[in-house]
Amino acid sequence: MCCSKVTKDQAVEIIKRYEQVLAIINKYGKAKEQLLSILLDVQATSGENYVAEEWAEVVACQLDLPISKVHDVLTFYAMFSIEPRGRYVIEICKSTPCHVTKADAVVAMFEAELGIKLGETTPDNEFTLLHTSCVGACDIGPVAKIGEEVYGNLTAAKVAEIVASYREAKACQK
Ligand code: FES
Repeated sequence: MCCSKVTKDQAVEIIKRYEQVLAIINKYGKAKEQLLSILLDVQATSGENYVAEEWAEVVACQLDLPISKVHDVLTFYAMFSIEPRGRYVIEICKSTPCHVTKADAVVAMFEAELGIKLGETTPDNEFTLLHTSCVGACDIGPVAKIGEEVYGNLTAAKVAEIVASYREAKACQK
């Protein structure tokens, strides 16, 4: 008797994703020294901005690496996540120079603008709100970083503008 809870559609999706991950690994010639690039691509194509355990295992197996090595990389580098995240990760600096320039208020502004709490992701999977440590822009605190972009001297108006610009970017891609 079959007791699998995976539907046919889900099975098709899993196979498609498996082939996609294999294609990424093959693109880099299954080279162990390309582990970071492979994981970045696996994360970028995940749809939820993270590397799930099953795909970390596939990468480890295909590169003939211990899974612990892949886990070490995924947990050491801040650019990786092993939990689903929004497409845009908003990181608000909580180090002391930013803290004294009201970083807490900036967290509250983003929370109000996005309708989520720190550590959460918006229901449309677009934004995740997190803390980070110093990003090297202490002179323009309070600071938030989204991808490679750093935004400083944040006010409620600027926060609203930033969020709107990312929402507009999404609308333009449709
Ligand atoms: S303390 Fe926030 S950028 Fe340096």
